[in-house]
Amino acid sequence: MEIRKVGVLGCGLMGSGIAQVSATAGFDVAVLEVEQRFLDKGFAGIEKSLAKFAEKGTIKDPDAIRARLKGTTKKEDLADCDIVIEAIIENVAEKKKMFASIDPIVKKEAIFATNTSSISVTELLSAVKRPERVIGMHFFNPVPLMKLVEVVKTIATAPDVYETASEFGRKLGKVPVRTSDKTGFIVNRLLVPYLLDAIRAYEEGVGSIPDIDNAMKLGCGYPMGPFTLLDFVGLDTTYYITHVMFDEFKERRFASPPLLKRLVMAGWYGRKTGKGFYDYADPNNPVPGNF
Ligand code: 3HC
Repeated sequence: MEIRKVGVLGCGLMGSGIAQVSATAGFDVAVLEVEQRFLDKGFAGIEKSLAKFAEKGTIKDPDAIRARLKGTTKKEDLADCDIVIEAIIENVAEKKKMFASIDPIVKKEAIFATNTSSISVTELLSAVKRPERVIGMHFFNPVPLMKLVEVVKTIATAPDVYETASEFGRKLGKVPVRTSDKTGFIVNRLLVPYLLDAIRAYEEGVGSIPDIDNAMKLGCGYPMGPFTLLDFVGLDTTYYITHVMFDEFKERRFASPPLLKRLVMAGWYGRKTGKGFYDYADPNNPVPGNF
């Protein structure tokens, strides 16, 4: 099947990024949010990102991209989408509710993709009457820059749905990697224990936050140290993922260290709240915490 129109559920960090790259690749896009103010926030982020690309000349016609992007609060506007990508809150019940509510509205041959990072894609199948058309498409933050998409096949996913989703990922300029529906897929299976180990190393006095960050940046060539990356991804998101992964594997390497829990309980979620392992009162000069 050919994909022409893309629906994106949720206009947060990931949803807005997915909408942006889809419109940039030439697709018509409808982005659904519960309230206009969330659309406004997401579209403001898209504008910033488009401005950066336009400045560098890597996108030619930002107005044409804007014209392809429509925000909406009405599910009916998704009816003629060929693929719908869910990027709402990382919560099974909410994701199931969302898929169940749009299933009777969106045309029946459309693909339902989820951008979940840790929830079982298979668990979402029971919410819809098109289980063979459900797939995972896991993008990475910041979506406009990160080249990977994990394409997650469940035991029910039809082969043509897998092929269409992978081809769609390529059209967005991403490199699709195939993975099965095992908690954390490839990236988080490896990344999450590394990030949690960095916190444990700090708790055990191995090094300070900036020293651990610098060690991994300068010693291993990582673009961001683990604490900078944790703050960037969001400590609430990481904390949630640890629960899902620990629940699945029952291994300490996936368990949340106490400090992560304390920061989340305090509402220090990282960059998005202005405070996490670093304080971003001056975003250009983050000050590391000393816990
Ligand atoms: N849109 C457009 N351009 C952007 C941008 C955006 N959203 N964000 C940054 N840029 C541009 C900057 O303007 C800058 O341009 P310049 O070179 O002309 O000045 C360029 O990209 C580089 O940005 P910075 O100088 O700010 O910083 P970096 O050189 O460190 O690059 C980065 C930024 C690409 C984010 C890099 O730090 C990186 O790759 N970090 C790791 C990110 C990562 O690991 N993401 C995955 C997280 S895990 C995940 O998402 C999965 C989930 O399930 C948890």
